[in-house]
Amino acid sequence: MAIRNIGVVGCGLMGGGIAQTCAQSGYETVVREINQPLLEKGMARIYAAWDMMASKGKISQGQLDENRSRLHGTLNMEDFADCDLVIEAVIENMEEKLRLFPALDHLLKPGALLLTNTSSLNVTQMGAVTKRPDKVCGLHFFNPAPVMKLVEIVRTISTSDETIESVRNFALSLGKTPVLAKDTAGFIVNFLLIPYLLAAIRMLENGMASRDDIDTAMKLGCGYPMGPFTLLDYVGLDTTMWAAEAIYDEYKDPLYAPPPLLRRMVQSGMYGKKSGRGFYTYE
Ligand code: 3HC
Repeated sequence: MAIRNIGVVGCGLMGGGIAQTCAQSGYETVVREINQPLLEKGMARIYAAWDMMASKGKISQGQLDENRSRLHGTLNMEDFADCDLVIEAVIENMEEKLRLFPALDHLLKPGALLLTNTSSLNVTQMGAVTKRPDKVCGLHFFNPAPVMKLVEIVRTISTSDETIESVRNFALSLGKTPVLAKDTAGFIVNFLLIPYLLAAIRMLENGMASRDDIDTAMKLGCGYPMGPFTLLDYVGLDTTMWAAEAIYDEYKDPLYAPPPLLRRMVQSGMYGKKSGRGFYTYE
């Protein structure tokens, strides 16, 4: 089936970035939020990114207008009825996903593909609550989604070869490089990245070095674009904690156990850049 119309569930940091990527790659894109203020906030972030790209001469005014005309914000799930492919990018909460997947399955066309951007939750379980598990897989983007080149395609034991092939072609059409991962917690990137980020927090907790020195060390010593604390704030401490918990739940490996400082910060609403405070403070 040709993929033309895309649906994105959630217009937060990741959902918004994914919707932006799809619309600027030429797809008619519907993005759904749960209330008007969240939708407006998400759409404003996308418009600001396009304005920034236009001001840098990366897109023309004409392309900016076309991008805007291809992107439709909505509060109604029913607006996904014409979509050929829907990407779920809501909060990393399994109960929420298990409510959403049967509802989406019910209203989507029979041939439509149903994807999740989950960073570490069980994709097989999401497929199993639908009547189309062969058309369900993970498509995991990285923050910022319009910029980062990688996507992980997560294959469950029920995903069909046709679905994987269609999703691979779709990822290439977005200008992304896909890698294929099995449906095991953390897939490829987070299985490796999360222990590194948690180790940095433990180093800070134990007084082994300062926040700034740890960040500087990894930036200049390893050539990483951001040190671990800048990256933690950028990804979101809440998102990092949920990913760590999901991988810990699967393997019970202490490497993935969220350190107390991370939990306390999340409990205090210190989510990082998006809430104005994390390991650093933002305007
Ligand atoms: N849309 C379009 N373009 C954007 C954009 C957006 N939303 N955000 C940034 N850009 C562009 C900028 O315009 C800029 O373009 P230019 O080089 O042509 O001028 C380019 O991206 C780089 O941005 P900046 O100049 O603002 O800043 P930097 O050069 O410092 O790069 C960064 C920013 C790309 C975020 C870089 O610091 C980086 O790669 N950091 C690491 C990010 C990372 O590791 N992400 C993965 C996190 S893990 C994850 O997401 C998984 C999850 O499951 C936990």
